[in-house]
Amino acid sequence: MLVHARPFPVIQTRASQPRLIEVEAERVNEVQSSAGVRAQAYDVARIRGDFGLIQNDVEHEGLGLDFCGLRLANPIVLLSGCVGFGEEYTRVEGFSNQDVGAIVLKGTTGKPRLGNRPHRVYETPDGMLNAIGLQNPGVDHVVDKILPTLDFSETRFIANVSGSTLEEYIEVIRRFDDSPIDAIEVNISCPNVKEGGVQFGNDPDMSARVVEACRKATSKPLITKLSPNQTDIAYNAQRCIEAGTDALAVINTLTGMAIDAELRRPVIGNVQGGLSGPAIKPIALLKVWQVFQVARPHGVPIIGQGGIANATDALEFLIAGATTVGVGTGLFYDPLLCRRITAGIADYLARHHLTRVSELVGTLDASPSPIGCYST
Ligand SMILES: Cc1cc2nc3c(=O)[nH]c(=O)nc-3n(C[C@H](O)[C@H](O)[C@H](O)COP(=O)(O)O)c2cc1C
Repeated sequence: MLVHARPFPVIQTRASQPRLIEVEAERVNEVQSSAGVRAQAYDVARIRGDFGLIQNDVEHEGLGLDFCGLRLANPIVLLSGCVGFGEEYTRVEGFSNQDVGAIVLKGTTGKPRLGNRPHRVYETPDGMLNAIGLQNPGVDHVVDKILPTLDFSETRFIANVSGSTLEEYIEVIRRFDDSPIDAIEVNISCPNVKEGGVQFGNDPDMSARVVEACRKATSKPLITKLSPNQTDIAYNAQRCIEAGTDALAVINTLTGMAIDAELRRPVIGNVQGGLSGPAIKPIALLKVWQVFQVARPHGVPIIGQGGIANATDALEFLIAGATTVGVGTGLFYDPLLCRRITAGIADYLARHHLTRVSELVGTLDASPSPIGCYST
């Protein structure tokens, strides 16, 4: 058996080395290159199995956390629309769903949707514009055909729900309620569809109505995904909390456009798209911090997201008030980003003598700095 060709002196089952995932990744890579193979993700899982490692053994000490009653191996959440239906990155050498706390599936609607006409993605300085338009095979297909193929022992899977009408949201939520999915994220912030989406999410009354109706339709943990394209995201968050959401996802993409000057035409077929990636990080950080001010008194956790591309970004979101951190566009640049982020967070915890990642959440000290600038 390939993995027994070399000794693995460092890995011990249930060992508590802070850099366990990194060490494991290095060893897996060593084995692969010495054997001249390019392993698939299932090989990595098998290697773990050969060592008697189970999912939580590859947790860094202190990175596990509880989120809406779900146990997550670490605070990393793969974001909707960036990982298909949880299978996409398992085809990438060295990637494993076990490396993340949760995966949010592609936005799902009542009926199948083909999405928008091309072009649907465009790279921008430090980010990307997309206007996919919620292309998906419809909730029946997702529940009947896709969910049975997912390995729920590897990570937590979260459905992402959209609709053109309140009734459609309810129909899709009910379908997922009667499925093995671990939690449901309500997307009231998609900027790329003509009906529903951000139309609902930018109106606090309508947001609250959608959340209230969805709350009644499921007993599973309910996450509401908020739009940054609105005047007062904190007020909207407050209304969604009052309407019964268990958690908030902050933020979805910002609306933007790209123009081909030679043709004098928009690049994106839908004219406008949603901007994601590092370009939006400062905006996302502020929105997370603002939402945290209203979410904290209710104990409502936040999935912070928007441009996270390394461990420092993730740490900033945790400090701003996010309980978990979402990674989306960053994966397009580096599919193995999550391992680097978890290793970096674990390193930070050790350097700052913290035992649990939850100790970091919302620790931003925004009081006037003693060495800051004061007007005289
Ligand atoms: C190609 C693409 C498709 C997306 N599709 C969805 C979707 O179906 N539902 C949703 O709630 N968010 C969707 N998003 C938004 C992401 O989940 C995420 O909130 C946003 O991109 C910000 O994070 P990031 O900068 O790390 O990508 C999509 C983003 C991208 C780039």
